[in-house]
Amino acid sequence: MKKIAFLLAALLLLTAGLAGCGGNDGGADAPQDPQADVQEPAGDAAADTGDAAPAADGTLVMGTEATFPPYEFTDADGSITGIDAEIAAAIAEKLGMDLEIKDMAFDSLIPAVQGGSIDFAMAGMTVEPERAESVDFSASYATGVQVVIVPEDSEIASIDDLAGKIIGVQSGTTGDIYCTGDYGQDSVRQYNNGALAVAALLNGQIDCVVIDNEPAKNFVSANTGLKILDTEYAVEDYAIAISKDNPELLDQVNAALEELKADGTLDEIISKYIPAE
Ligand code: ARG
Repeated sequence: MKKIAFLLAALLLLTAGLAGCGGNDGGADAPQDPQADVQEPAGDAAADTGDAAPAADGTLVMGTEATFPPYEFTDADGSITGIDAEIAAAIAEKLGMDLEIKDMAFDSLIPAVQGGSIDFAMAGMTVEPERAESVDFSASYATGVQVVIVPEDSEIASIDDLAGKIIGVQSGTTGDIYCTGDYGQDSVRQYNNGALAVAALLNGQIDCVVIDNEPAKNFVSANTGLKILDTEYAVEDYAIAISKDNPELLDQVNAALEELKADGTLDEIISKYIPAE
């Protein structure tokens, strides 16, 4: 008798686990999470876990390139954290799913979304027309600015001085796209990540680095002898990239984002990493 009760309890736990109750209501002491078991049209817009097409196993897989602080970076114990990771976790929680984060090259992210090896890409990724032909973008959750990092004693004083200079970028980023378009391939050196571009700048191999402003601030404060030019190269919107084959997930993510905007969670996460100046 006892054995059967135990088996039943184990089964319940398993079902709850499979349904991905991960953190819907942290403090439940009973194993069964009502939301996980009952497939009713969710009262609160976003949490329709019933038709989780992308992640039938209850896990939402996010792809990112994790050397982009404060949006994504690896913390002391090796896990990927930052603004994007926290917003993604909040979205997953709203959808009643667990979140898994895969780190990969930035220029692999869109192909990975298209190929289905990740459910979405979230990487301080700019909404850009050519990308929008390959993937769908969610509503924007943050703004980015392309800026120029130079050595403190550089003769480059503004964007107008970039012609004829060697510019370092992270491969496949908008910095890469703009600079290659504006100055030609020969003027641009592509690196696998921003940190490598900054290292090349410190070594004197290139004249400047074009990258997003918040990572730029991080790189400049982590090294000596660098500064950011006052003039901005471009202002952009960051959004989440989702497969064009998965409009359900796009809707769910947008609904979740809207709730997180409305209840202040989004601002809270962003200002935790980007203190107001
Ligand atoms: N915002 C730029 C872009 O979309 C750079 C993003 C780089 N992100 C990263 N996680 N390395 O191209």
